[in-house]
Amino acid sequence: MTTMTAARTLALIKPSVAANPHLVDTVRARVRAEGFAVKAERVVQWNLDDARRFYRQHEGRFFYKRLCGYMASGPFVAMILEKENAISDWRKLIGPTRSIAARLESGSLRGDMAVSDTRNAFHGSDSVNSAREEIEMFFPEESTAG
Ligand code: TYD
Repeated sequence: MTTMTAARTLALIKPSVAANPHLVDTVRARVRAEGFAVKAERVVQWNLDDARRFYRQHEGRFFYKRLCGYMASGPFVAMILEKENAISDWRKLIGPTRSIAARLESGSLRGDMAVSDTRNAFHGSDSVNSAREEIEMFFPEESTAG
């Protein structure tokens, strides 16, 4: 019997894109076309303290204040995405953090939808551990065991 090796990652569609239902539909279509299954989805509204906690490792960086302000500026969409190599494949699909680099990666979601380095439209967990922690944070009811 073959065993499934599907992995899970936490994806965020950040407020600048989440504000536009047409763009969110476009993202969902890309997600499905790239072979991801959306295992759970919810809309989240953060206050500044929520954003500061999530991005605490960036405290003191020049962009920290505007990053937290952006993430608390309106609702965003959190999703659990599942597929083989979900973590690295989702980060590849969204593209580089910085918008100029993202624009050079044709077909990347940030290349299409980021408006600046800060308002860069998407988040993806960067490791197995962060995926587990972030899924637990947004979807505490989802067991990630096994
Ligand atoms: P980082 O964890 O380096 O990137 P990623 O989201 O691709 O894992 O940075 C976290 C967020 O901080 C990033 O999505 C947007 C913001 N940021 C800036 O606003 N300016 C910057 O120069 C960098 C590096 C990040």
